[in-house]
Amino acid sequence: MDRQNTIKLDDMVPSQIVKELDKYIIGQDKAKRTIAVALRNRTRRKRLPENIRDEVSPKNIIMIGPTGVGKTEIARRIAKLSNAPFIKVEATKYTEVGYVGRDVESMIRDLMSIAVQMVKREMAEAQEDVVKRRVEDRLLDLLLPDLKEMPPEPAPNASGTTELQVANAPGAFSGAAESTREKFRKMLQAGAFDDKEVEITAAARSQGIGIEMMGSGNLEDIQEAMNSLGSIFGNKAKRRKVTIKRARDIFTDEEMEKSVDQDRVIDEAKERTEQMGIIFIDEIDKIAGTNGSASGPDVSRQGVQRDILPIVEGTKVSTKWGIIDTTHILFIAAGAFHVAKPSDLIPELQGRFPLRTELDDLKTKDFFRILKEPENAITKQYHELLKTEGVDVRFTDEAITRISEIAWEVNTTSENIGARRLYTIMEILLEELSYSASELSGQTITITPAYVDQRLNDVVSNQDLSRYIL
Ligand SMILES: Nc1ncnc2c1ncn2[C@@H]1O[C@H](COP(=O)(O)OP(=O)(O)OP(=O)(O)O)[C@@H](O)[C@H]1O
Ligand SMILES: [Mg+2]
Repeated sequence: MDRQNTIKLDDMVPSQIVKELDKYIIGQDKAKRTIAVALRNRTRRKRLPENIRDEVSPKNIIMIGPTGVGKTEIARRIAKLSNAPFIKVEATKYTEVGYVGRDVESMIRDLMSIAVQMVKREMAEAQEDVVKRRVEDRLLDLLLPDLKEMPPEPAPNASGTTELQVANAPGAFSGAAESTREKFRKMLQAGAFDDKEVEITAAARSQGIGIEMMGSGNLEDIQEAMNSLGSIFGNKAKRRKVTIKRARDIFTDEEMEKSVDQDRVIDEAKERTEQMGIIFIDEIDKIAGTNGSASGPDVSRQGVQRDILPIVEGTKVSTKWGIIDTTHILFIAAGAFHVAKPSDLIPELQGRFPLRTELDDLKTKDFFRILKEPENAITKQYHELLKTEGVDVRFTDEAITRISEIAWEVNTTSENIGARRLYTIMEILLEELSYSASELSGQTITITPAYVDQRLNDVVSNQDLSRYIL
C-alpha cells in the first residue's frame, strides 16, 4: 500500500476526511460532513477522561438516498482509509436467530477478527528486522548444515539436497566459519540460492487457537474449532523439499507468528474493536417492513431488526477471543428507502440512529464530473485499459457532456439507477472500440460528441431498446 506515510483516518480532522472522500465521490457534501464529524467524534471521545468517556455514546448515522448515488461507495472509501477495525455488511445477509442464515452477532466476530489481523500485522511489521535476521539464520543453517552454532553432533544428514561441503567447525563459529557464513548471507540476500532445493520441516500450524468454542456455541466458531482440531491431530510436522525462495516465505510466516505475543494482540484488538470499531450496515431499508401485514417476510425482517437492536444499543457478544462489548462501536447504516421509510424501522432502532443524512439525486453536471474527475474515473479506466493495447483513447469535454446528458435522459425515461447508468452507457459506447482495439495499436482515438451520437442515438431514441440494453 502506498499510503504508509499519509495520515490515517483516526488522525484526520473532518475537513481532511471530506477532502479525502472528494477524491472519489462527487457531491453529496452533507453526507460527507456528517460522516466526517461522527468519525472524528470517536477520536475526541478517546481523549476524554475515563469517567466521562463511558457516558458518550456514538452518534450512529443513517444515510438515505436513491439508488446509485454513492452510499456504498462512501463506505468503501472509508474502509480503505480506516486504521480502525471496519466492516461493511449487508443487512439482507442476516436472518433471525433460528432461521437459516447468519446471525447478527457474527458481524461483531467478523469485526474482531479484522482487528486481530490488523494488530498482528502491525506488531509483526515492527519486528521486521528481527524476523528477517532469524529467517536468514535458519536458511543459512540449511545451506551450511555443518556450520551450525550448536555443539557438533553428527547431525543426521537428512538434508540430502544440500550438497555444500564445508569444513566442519566444532562449537561456536570459528573465524573462518563465521566469514563463510557471512559470505553466504550476502549471496542469500542477493537471491543467489533462490532456486536451490532444501528439505525443511514444516511446523504444525496454528498454535494458540486451541479449543475455544466453549461459551460462544455458534456454528461458525464450532466449525473453526473443528478445523484447528484437525490440524492438531491430522497435520503432523512433515518434512518436505522446497526451494530456498519458498522456504524463506514459510519461515517468515513462522517467525512472524512467533515474534508477536498472542495475548497482547488479542488485548489490543479487543480494545480497538470496542473503542474505535465501525460497522457499516448497507441495505438497511431491506429489513424495514412496510406496515400492515403481520405475517410473511415482514415478520422475519422485524426479527432481524430486533436482533440488531441490542448490538447497536450495546451488548456483550462472545467470540473466541473473549467477550466484546458493543456499546461504543459506531454504526453507519445506508439504504435507498424508496419503498420503506426510515419510520418503518422499529422505533427502538430508529432511536439508535439519531443522525439522518440524505444524499442527492445526481444530475447531468454531476455525471460529467463523475466521468471525469475521480481518481478512478470511468474515462480514466477505459483510457488505461486500452492503453495496454497501444491505443490512446481521449474523451473531449463535449463528448463527456453528451454522455452525461444521455445518462440523465435514460434515467428519467426508464428507471433511475443513478451513476450506475454511466457504466452501461460507456460499455455500449466503447464496445466497438474494445473489440477492435488490438488492430488499432499505435493510434489515438478521440471520442467526440458526434461519435457518441453515432454509437448511442439509435439505442436511446428507442425506448424499448434502451430499457433492455442501457
Ligand atoms: N457521487 C458519486 N461520485 C462518484 N461516483 C459515484 C457517485 N455515486 C455513485 N457513483 C458510482 O456509481 C456506482 C454505484 O454507486 P453506489 O454503489 O455507491 O450506489 P448506492 O448509493 O449504494 O446505491 P444502492 O442504494 O443501489 O445500493 C459506484 O460504483 C460509484 O463508483
Ligand atoms: Mg449500495
